[in-house]
Amino acid sequence: MNSVFSKPLAAIASLPLLCAVAIAASAPPPAVNYDESKVGNYTLPDPLVCADGTKVTDAATWRAKRRPEVLELFRTHVYGRSPARPAAMKCEVTAEDKNALGGKATRREVTIYFLGTKDGPKMDLLVYLPNGAKRPVPAFLGLSFGGNHAVANDPGVKLSSVWMRPSKDKGIVNNRATEASRGTEAGRWQVEMLLARGYALATAYYGDIEPDFAEGWKVSTRAAFAKDGANTQFAPDDWGAIGAWAWGLSRALDYLETDRDVDAKHVAVIGHSRLGKTALWAGAQDERFAIVISNNSGEGGASLARRWFGETTAIINKAFPHWFCGNFKQYAGNESKLPVDQHELIALAAPQPIYVASAEEDRWADPRGEFLSAKNAEPVYRLFGKEGLGVDDMPAVNHPVGKTIGYHIRTGKHDVTAYDWEQYLNFADHHFGHRK
Ligand code: GCU
Repeated sequence: MNSVFSKPLAAIASLPLLCAVAIAASAPPPAVNYDESKVGNYTLPDPLVCADGTKVTDAATWRAKRRPEVLELFRTHVYGRSPARPAAMKCEVTAEDKNALGGKATRREVTIYFLGTKDGPKMDLLVYLPNGAKRPVPAFLGLSFGGNHAVANDPGVKLSSVWMRPSKDKGIVNNRATEASRGTEAGRWQVEMLLARGYALATAYYGDIEPDFAEGWKVSTRAAFAKDGANTQFAPDDWGAIGAWAWGLSRALDYLETDRDVDAKHVAVIGHSRLGKTALWAGAQDERFAIVISNNSGEGGASLARRWFGETTAIINKAFPHWFCGNFKQYAGNESKLPVDQHELIALAAPQPIYVASAEEDRWADPRGEFLSAKNAEPVYRLFGKEGLGVDDMPAVNHPVGKTIGYHIRTGKHDVTAYDWEQYLNFADHHFGHRK
């Protein structure tokens, strides 16, 4: 087997056997490992080997046969199955200001009624379009943690009125946004940088689709789609919250396809952390996304589940039981039985360009595991004649690499920074052939 798919047993092999047994008997391994030498041995599933054992050697077979198989495995075992776009869905432009952000942008606010009814599930989409740019413009689309009013210092954006995680320093009181929460995520979105480079930003609050707590689905899109509403017993392969959020991103793209100022063929889907997992899943399912960007998405996102480093499948299932489908629970501490690993999630974006970003201090997300995922997706990109990362080894910090698969690890913590955005914009310029 190609060495990319199997890693040598590292430290354990060098321990005297008796010593290893004694350790195992007296102290179970700590749940979280941050020691690279203890990661251990694992074998990744080969994305190119079909269920019938045949090996894919061309792009057409990947598309027609293997891609649907891999997608199906992720649906069944990891994120669950999402419904199609409802025929009755309606979008309504609720506000527009051609002179937003000191005249730099046109701000458009749109409500998407998922079932076409005002009392049904809905999502508010905020779109900033660069003024003075030749339209239609390419766009970045992503969900936020803080609501539309938090992504820029813009008094004109409707303040979110739905559930939010309490956070005094972010102006969230009694689970609701206050004026003090306006602009609190501006550093993470860099709206003015995007506009200056000729891109639109489209964004929605993830809590519009589903509030992020274990029972949040009962008041969310998932309940609205379920036969028994809040009394539903989900099937083990029904969608989890990540599935619902990703579905919301596709519904936002449905709207963008109708907005004459946006070039919907050039929309990059982006997300940070749990919303990076979400962006990856959205990009895997919906081939209309022209670029997929994962910012520090970690476990259940870009990083390999089989690597014992940072967060694990057991930890994520326990802390966030609502994120994944029911079947995913059986892989807690049992990753070798998972029929996929996350390099195949990256591969599902092929041949579309994809960017994976890590942060040096974000060890919880396992930066090396994120890099290796990107690396191990390359065989699928090669079927399309695309080079992938263009390097074999993880680059030094602040040295972005990549051809069709981009990657960087920057200095600093778990976050989205101006540095990250500069790399995403360079990547998008390159792949979209975009010059302001
Ligand atoms: C937790 C969780 C991660 C997740 C992160 C986030 O740290 O363990 O998996 O990525 O939250 O979304 O902020």
